[in-house]
Amino acid sequence: MASKGIIHVIDDEPVIRDVLSQLLTSEGYEVELSSSGEEALDKFSSSSCDVILLDLLMPGMDGIEVLRRIRKIDPVAAVIIITAYASVESAIAAMKIGALDYVQKPFKHDDLLMTIERAVERRRLQEENLRLKDELKQKFSFSNIIGKSQAMKAVFELIKAAAPTRSTILLQGESGTGKELVARAIHVNSNRADEPFVIVNSGSLPPDLLESHLFGHVKGAFTGAVTLKKGLFEAADKGTIFFDEISSINLETQAKLLRVMQEKEFMRLGGTETIKVDTRIIAATNTDIEEMIALKTFRKDLFYRLNVIKIDLPPLRQRKDDIPLLVKHFIEVYGRENGREVEGVSEDVYEILDAHDWPGNVRELENLVERAVVFSRSKIITRESLPPLLLARDASPDGRLGTPEESLDFKERTQTFQKKIILTALKKTRGVQKQAAGLLGVKPTTLNEMIKRLGINTEDTPT
Ligand SMILES: Nc1ncnc2c1ncn2[C@@H]1O[C@H](COP(=O)(O)OP(=O)(O)OP(=O)(O)O)[C@@H](O)[C@H]1O
Ligand SMILES: [Mg+2]
Repeated sequence: MASKGIIHVIDDEPVIRDVLSQLLTSEGYEVELSSSGEEALDKFSSSSCDVILLDLLMPGMDGIEVLRRIRKIDPVAAVIIITAYASVESAIAAMKIGALDYVQKPFKHDDLLMTIERAVERRRLQEENLRLKDELKQKFSFSNIIGKSQAMKAVFELIKAAAPTRSTILLQGESGTGKELVARAIHVNSNRADEPFVIVNSGSLPPDLLESHLFGHVKGAFTGAVTLKKGLFEAADKGTIFFDEISSINLETQAKLLRVMQEKEFMRLGGTETIKVDTRIIAATNTDIEEMIALKTFRKDLFYRLNVIKIDLPPLRQRKDDIPLLVKHFIEVYGRENGREVEGVSEDVYEILDAHDWPGNVRELENLVERAVVFSRSKIITRESLPPLLLARDASPDGRLGTPEESLDFKERTQTFQKKIILTALKKTRGVQKQAAGLLGVKPTTLNEMIKRLGINTEDTPT
């Protein structure tokens, strides 16, 4: 028989432990025994048992204190208090700090068993709800990052594993694939979440300006340095610094960055004092850094320092199954923002979105949905709300089905096709039907009959 649950009995009296152990084992529970709060806390972890039976009055650490500490480790631990005598006050005090229930010694076996059964059941439901909630929350999104494709699930797993560490992370992906979004998610899900998240727009600054931005400068370090200025590294102390487009940093600044990563300290420009910082580094790039290393425009040693954990963000065209979910998400966001009640998009819009290549990735899709939400006159977004360019590009005449206006009627299409090849044959033979029939592999009478039926004007045949 499978165990009905694990009960941790914490009581200093050996007799009580014996009695409870026998009773609970005979009822199909597994029992863990501790003779003091200290011993119990040593053994306790959030998954080590289902219900705790806790004696309030013990030498050494008393029950209330044990309860407090248990709740710290596991805020939803199911604790049932055992009170030696009618000390209802202390039992109530215990309930106030989170005990589930209490029983009085001497206890009736049936009452105790009922109380335990209820607690086990509650615990099971609680765990199930937590799991479901967790699954719903995590399944298709993580910190506002949407995606259910295998590729994005792999990204979520990496973020979850990497976030709580201090490791440096390199995010690689085309423009608009969500590198900054992922960097923020890593920060928010790390123990640095309450500390600053500082973005360095490496690409948009000239090199010497970038250095003074990063490291700060002392008064008089260069013309224009009229006051002391702290750098971004100092601003990001205890937090995370995010290098957007790390590949645009020149070799000289790369060397300085490498030093900071190695020494965890630096000097302000023109300064003499070394400044220690504890900053986690996340870097992003949309160019292939390994290629740059081959071209000697990026330092190999810096790359290795940055590349401790690498997260590749797949382009949207490689995970088109994420499009509907992303569309739904952006409709909600921009519907709310613009006070528009949009329910969704029509099926043919999905066909167009699916056929598109998305060079601008999720950003391009986001902009498109925002625009459509604003322009849509109905609750459902139709092709009329899409940018004309997208329609023109993707409504290709052949290969795909073409525009819905074009007839798909089988008879009509075959007739058009027949007309075309007959006219071509006639053109080749300068209107000589007998020769044209030979080319087409039909009898001259058949060809003549087809020409009449299809209403082909033989005068049309160019000579
Ligand atoms: N998986 C996603 N789920 C929801 N929104 C996303 C996702 N990926 C990207 N976005 C959104 O797309 C936009 C572009 O993302 P982001 O700025 O993170 O891209 P990037 O990779 O940093 O681009 P660039 O290289 O151009 O800086 C943002 O508004 C972001 O919120
Ligand atoms: Mg970016």
